[in-house]
Amino acid sequence: MANVELPLELADEIRRRVFDEPGLIKVTQVLRRGGNTFRISLRPVEIRGERKYQGEMTDEGKTKVKNFDIDGAREGLEEMIGQTGTRELHLVTASGDLHIRVTKKGKVLQSRSGKLAREVDDAPAHDRVKRLPLNAFHAQPLLQAIGISDADGRIKASMRGKYDQVNAFLRVIDEVLPESVGPEPLTIVDCGCGRAYLTLAVYVYLTIAKGRDVRVCGIDRRHDVITVARHLADDLDCADRVTFIEGDIDTAELPFEKVDIVLSLNACDTATDAALARGIEWKATHLLSVPCCQHELHKSLKNSGPMAGVLRHGILRERLADLLTDTFRAQILRIMGYRVQVVEFVSSDATARNILLRAESALKRGMWAAVSEYLELRDFWRVTPWLETRLGEPFSRLLTICEETKED
Ligand SMILES: C[S@@+](CC[C@H](N)C(=O)[O-])C[C@H]1O[C@@H](n2cnc3c(N)ncnc32)[C@H](O)[C@@H]1O
Repeated sequence: MANVELPLELADEIRRRVFDEPGLIKVTQVLRRGGNTFRISLRPVEIRGERKYQGEMTDEGKTKVKNFDIDGAREGLEEMIGQTGTRELHLVTASGDLHIRVTKKGKVLQSRSGKLAREVDDAPAHDRVKRLPLNAFHAQPLLQAIGISDADGRIKASMRGKYDQVNAFLRVIDEVLPESVGPEPLTIVDCGCGRAYLTLAVYVYLTIAKGRDVRVCGIDRRHDVITVARHLADDLDCADRVTFIEGDIDTAELPFEKVDIVLSLNACDTATDAALARGIEWKATHLLSVPCCQHELHKSLKNSGPMAGVLRHGILRERLADLLTDTFRAQILRIMGYRVQVVEFVSSDATARNILLRAESALKRGMWAAVSEYLELRDFWRVTPWLETRLGEPFSRLLTICEETKED
């Protein structure tokens, strides 16, 4: 890794814009060294009528906040500017943003954009809750690399749906993110990651905007998309923390032992079940899954009995099969000890596939109330959901034990 200092004019510009010009909003630096991420930021605050600077330092997931007078703040800024190695510095002032990235190969890349940062930081407090995660930091290098925005930083019309989906997904991740951080990095697996829009956005967002120490692994069985994803991770200088496996979700061997969060966004048909099943087997705390096309149950619904009138019509059959597939998934997750919510995570204008299963490991496994509801539904429809088949013997054994004891 190259130890590169900032060019003198750039360092001077930062000093001037932080201390000599009005309108400082925040300066943040994210530094990667020896496998750790270190984040430091400085912003002006007023304390009992006096101007101070609030410093926030996050090291290996632990955050400390301290207020400085101007001398202390100058020292802090000098320390930031004096760092070498791979890093990103983001300066936000009323006159615009300056974003500097020093790559692993020692290149100093800079970009300037007034609009994004001002939209974010001048927003009145009540608007902030509506802020898009990908507006909460300088996301242009990411959005351009993954092809969501063009060279001028505009979201491409053809990628607007993906941009909305990824933002919505990041919001959900924000909601489930544990407040306290342990010594271990947060580990996330993206099943059926495709070209890694979500995989890379999750990593960059959690690292830069949230200061978290994160490892992400994307799995996809397609060689072409994994090749693209690996190149993108290289370009974004995060290939050591965002890894990709070319293979099947069911058999992939992860580069880490414990898994905190499993994601799947539009993994086709039974790939969603594979993601949920692996999440259960990895004992992941959170499973966040947006299902896509669902064919499995569609084929096995029988056109007889009181529902024959619904199943006769192709579109009703398809929608019913979609609803039932997700219902069975939610029921099985409950049986496996997950508290489940089924939500519309993004507007239906963005995509018709806008249902998200959000599950947190928080309940006892094998509660009779969950099992009996599941068995009743399954017997009514006379089907075996794919997720049950996939979970195999351990799941059947659990059902049998629950039927025998009928206890919560
Ligand atoms: C519709 S794409 C979604 C890609 C990405 N999550 C996104 O939202 O942009 C579904 C991806 O899942 C992958 N996939 C489907 N079944 C899979 C399986 N069993 N194992 C690994 N990847 C699978 C496909 O190759 C495809 O790239």
